[in-house]
Amino acid sequence: MDPIRRWQLFVSRLARRTDLATTRIDDLDADAREAVYERGRKHIQALAERIESQTGFTLESNVALDFGCGIGKNVLALAQRCERVYGLDISPAVLAEAERNAKRLHIDNVEWMDAARLEELSGRYDLVVSFFVFQHIASREGERIFATLVRGLRPRGVGAIHLTLRPGLRRVGRSYMYNLMNSYSLNRISKLLADEGITEWHAKMHGRPLAGAPRPVYDEVTLLFRKD
Ligand SMILES: C[S@@+](CC[C@H](N)C(=O)[O-])C[C@H]1O[C@@H](n2cnc3c(N)ncnc32)[C@H](O)[C@@H]1O
Repeated sequence: MDPIRRWQLFVSRLARRTDLATTRIDDLDADAREAVYERGRKHIQALAERIESQTGFTLESNVALDFGCGIGKNVLALAQRCERVYGLDISPAVLAEAERNAKRLHIDNVEWMDAARLEELSGRYDLVVSFFVFQHIASREGERIFATLVRGLRPRGVGAIHLTLRPGLRRVGRSYMYNLMNSYSLNRISKLLADEGITEWHAKMHGRPLAGAPRPVYDEVTLLFRKD
């Protein structure tokens, strides 16, 4: 079997067994929890600046959707700036924890939903974000979800979606196991974007150093796009 595929299968089995796919903070004390929220706020602040400088779109008075929101670190930061936010995830346990986090922060403009209800939200959001989620989803199913997310965006809406790419490496190992769960082809994704009427998009490639390699290896990307 292809060695990359073998690692993908190994890691996705491990993730199912150990809940590796997410972060839980219920057991943390208030300071440690605040540090998690603060990371969410910083991430959303940097993202908002990038979105505004590249597309002119601002978060304020818009509706956002975070696909695979986990415990809501980014949703809660978005909720402090957007009119409303939908936080979707496949895990009921994670959504219940996200709801508790929102209550702790007195945030009430968020709706937490099972990811299977995505299509109900078509045409109801101006911003779609998803970070560190698609590697948990088998690539063809992930492509279908990606297209659904883009199709459901309102006109002039913006997307920022993180994907893992297949590393062009002969050597694979544990340092790559996170990214090797499932990977996406930029050719196929750009065709999906074009099919939804989006021809201009920006790709921020994320590289990581690999021991012994002369240059970082680019195996993750965050795509930024705006609907006409
Ligand atoms: C690594 S966490 C990332 C959470 C959050 N996006 C963040 O950046 O902190 C991955 C999340 O994706 C969710 N997930 C995995 N497969 C999913 C699917 N098919 N649909 C929706 N969410 C999924 C997991 O339950 C988990 O909460």
